[in-house]
Amino acid sequence: MAKEKWWKSSVVYQIYPRSFCDSNGDGIGDINGIRSKLWYLEALGIDVIWLSPVYPSPNADNGYDISDYYGISAEYGTMDDMKALIHECENRGIKIMMDLVVNHTSDEHFWFMEAKRSKDNPYRDYYIWKKGVKDNPPNKMESCFGGNAWEYSEETGEYYLHFYHKKQPDLNWENENVRREIWNMMNYWIDLGIGGFRMDVIDVIGKVPDKEIKENGPKLHAYLQEMNRETFGGKNLMTVGECWGADTESGKLYSDPDRNELDMIFQFEQMSVDQIQGGQKWDLKPFALTALKEAFAKWQKALEKKGWNSLFWNSHDLPRIVSRWGNDKEYRVESAKMLATVLHGMKGTPYIYQGEEIGMTNYPFAGIEDFFDVESVNMYRERKQSGYKEEDIMKSLCAKSRDNARTPMQWNSSREAGFTEGIPWCRVNPNYREINAEKALEDKNSIFYYYRELIRLRKEEPVLVHGTFEMLCPDDENIFAYRREWNGKKWLIVCNFFEEPAVFHYPARGRVILSNYRQESVIRLEQITLRPYEAVICELI
Ligand code: GLC
Ligand code: CA
Repeated sequence: MAKEKWWKSSVVYQIYPRSFCDSNGDGIGDINGIRSKLWYLEALGIDVIWLSPVYPSPNADNGYDISDYYGISAEYGTMDDMKALIHECENRGIKIMMDLVVNHTSDEHFWFMEAKRSKDNPYRDYYIWKKGVKDNPPNKMESCFGGNAWEYSEETGEYYLHFYHKKQPDLNWENENVRREIWNMMNYWIDLGIGGFRMDVIDVIGKVPDKEIKENGPKLHAYLQEMNRETFGGKNLMTVGECWGADTESGKLYSDPDRNELDMIFQFEQMSVDQIQGGQKWDLKPFALTALKEAFAKWQKALEKKGWNSLFWNSHDLPRIVSRWGNDKEYRVESAKMLATVLHGMKGTPYIYQGEEIGMTNYPFAGIEDFFDVESVNMYRERKQSGYKEEDIMKSLCAKSRDNARTPMQWNSSREAGFTEGIPWCRVNPNYREINAEKALEDKNSIFYYYRELIRLRKEEPVLVHGTFEMLCPDDENIFAYRREWNGKKWLIVCNFFEEPAVFHYPARGRVILSNYRQESVIRLEQITLRPYEAVICELI
């Protein structure tokens, strides 16, 4: 058997640099701040840092609008700081996965500044231009941040495409020169010693705007194969593509190793079970555990033989999981550990988003003035104009706004949670005196140490990495239970997803490996009553 890929037994930690740690008191997290906390990440035991963008950017979308792919934004530090970070991580056995944002650039990128000047500019075709229809945009394609996806450009009287903010013009992947520029840039970062790429909205690069095709365009997979060939292929890096539009069939195409595309993708099926089908993420629907289990089981099965899953609850785009599907009040610790158990027990590469490992919660927003993310602000304006009730808009925003995840990391109980000595760029969650890393490190029963155990188990127990997956009691509305099996070893993961006690049956006894409650060392599974949010991993005997 070929040597197993290292990322199969790795755990990734996502850093949103703006909100992680500020080293110089300007209120903005930075690279030297990250360097000062590497001991913390090493203590947790993670293998890879996914670093959200640190490149120069006008920050229309907090760094996801890049104006220079080869630089480091002055607010985050210098290229020397970045090199030092890569080097110091290496010394601790941690790899850095860079965020690759190449569906679009900033409108302040040199290419776009040139492209917009005239129709015969050499960079014109780096972007996607079209004439309007009378005084209207070329077609009805929409931006994810609201409104039409075409923006009129005065200089030449044509429209350019932007699937996101109008300051994020879409690159034209049909253009070979564009692709060549991107491969060169990726190779530059690979040569600097990074460990891989997380690829922003990569499933829309094959767009065909004339046919209003956005995701899964006809050339998407050909582009990824070309990318693989021209850049990271054969170099033992790790790649993960963000694919909001993926289903299990396309999931296999991306991550089947024989196809030489990516190692894995982020797909969002399980993160959309509380949204009305066909609606937006703001259109809330009550959570049903059975739907969540169905989504996970489907992906676990689909990629069992070929391909690989990524496992995540959180990111800088998603609300905090303990507030979303756990209980961030009286059972915050129990439910955060339960959610971690459900996720880290499955097959795939787990991702932890900064603060998740200490059970950080959603922010208690009081009104629209508390939001700063462009997506939230635009949604409020649009829904107000279309006559939605203030109360309903606020309910959706509080539940789903990306701002929930973007408040500063809570390090300790000193002012501004120890995130900065200045004024933070965005408000710290007022619960930081209760919830912070320092407290978690002092408490042997904290969420932090529970995550550390889960990470350790993944390193030591091949059954977690390679074992088959079988969902148990799929129709049970309260319990999330499944079995993993590898080389004769059988593990059972059983979790009560809610506060009400729940009964579970399995005809065996289990030697307890890990639990969020005190347990006997061997438990009888023939009939057990699980306490609020109780989670158990056990080996069947
Ligand atoms: C991805 C990023 C998100 C960003 C968008 C546009 O979804 O995760 O934060 O706004 O792409 O780049
Ligand atoms: Ca700073």
